Amino acid sequence: MQKVAIIGAGRVGETTAQFLAEQETAREIVLIDIREDAPQGVALDIAQSAPFFRFDTRVSGSNDPAAMADAEVVVITAGVPRKPGMSRSDVLDINVKVIDGIVDDIMRYAPRAIIIMVTNPVDVLTFRAWRRTGWPRARVLGQAGVLDASRMAAFIALETGFSTRDVTTIVLGGHGDSMVPVPRFCTINGIPVSHFIGPERLEEIVQRTRDGGAEILALRKNSSAYDAPGASVAAMVDAISRHRHRLLPCVAILEGEYGQRDIAMGVPCVLGRDGMERVVELPLNDEESAAFATSAAGVRADIGRLP
Ligand code: 2OP
Repeated sequence: MQKVAIIGAGRVGETTAQFLAEQETAREIVLIDIREDAPQGVALDIAQSAPFFRFDTRVSGSNDPAAMADAEVVVITAGVPRKPGMSRSDVLDINVKVIDGIVDDIMRYAPRAIIIMVTNPVDVLTFRAWRRTGWPRARVLGQAGVLDASRMAAFIALETGFSTRDVTTIVLGGHGDSMVPVPRFCTINGIPVSHFIGPERLEEIVQRTRDGGAEILALRKNSSAYDAPGASVAAMVDAISRHRHRLLPCVAILEGEYGQRDIAMGVPCVLGRDGMERVVELPLNDEESAAFATSAAGVRADIGRLP
């Protein structure tokens, strides 16, 4: 891949750029932010880490949206983060205005890009971006499930003592309090996780996963999470850049899958060079389906609040 643009040079944007540069996922990464000098400073700092990681990726920063010209992937991290005690939906009204302007810039300067939305509330804003662009759903997706699943995997590895490499998890639904971790499809190297963790403890891990972002925000106090979020975005860009056909939980526009349409939320997706190649439908049981429907109702309520 030649070029990735990251809109928003805050902590998530910066961490994403660092990981992408270290992994040489693209030849060029440009960070764009409206704050004067900020993206240039971030880019310079990352560029100066190149001798340690031995990467040749060119990292630059700009205040001009035209700098995203012809990017193949545009990652949107700009917007206001929530404060402790706020839900992700509480920042919708402010962030939708930010996102609309950015999406217009993308249509103008990078009209063939794949958009990865990261800004919260990510499900609603992915939907908004898709509607506004009028692009195929393959090219407008959001990051959430990769992060939520990595949190759950980290908790399971801590609990069992097994290597994180062997833990596979999946989290569906909206990226909010009603997200749907699915322990039935979580394994340690193919062995159901229920073989190693009892139902009550597993339920605690499920709840800790749902609260994963809030737990970090409460501890950090003046910042949301950004290390695992940046790594999650980098994994998605890598899957697209290297045409891996990875099966990852992403925020996708649904066209009847899981009984939903006219909505964006977290489902297993196949990612390759054209973006979201397809949604994979899992055989959910009644309890899981009900949880997914409850989560969808929450996302739909926020979509209904869009101006
Ligand atoms: C998180 O879950 C901020 O939504 C982000 O940490």
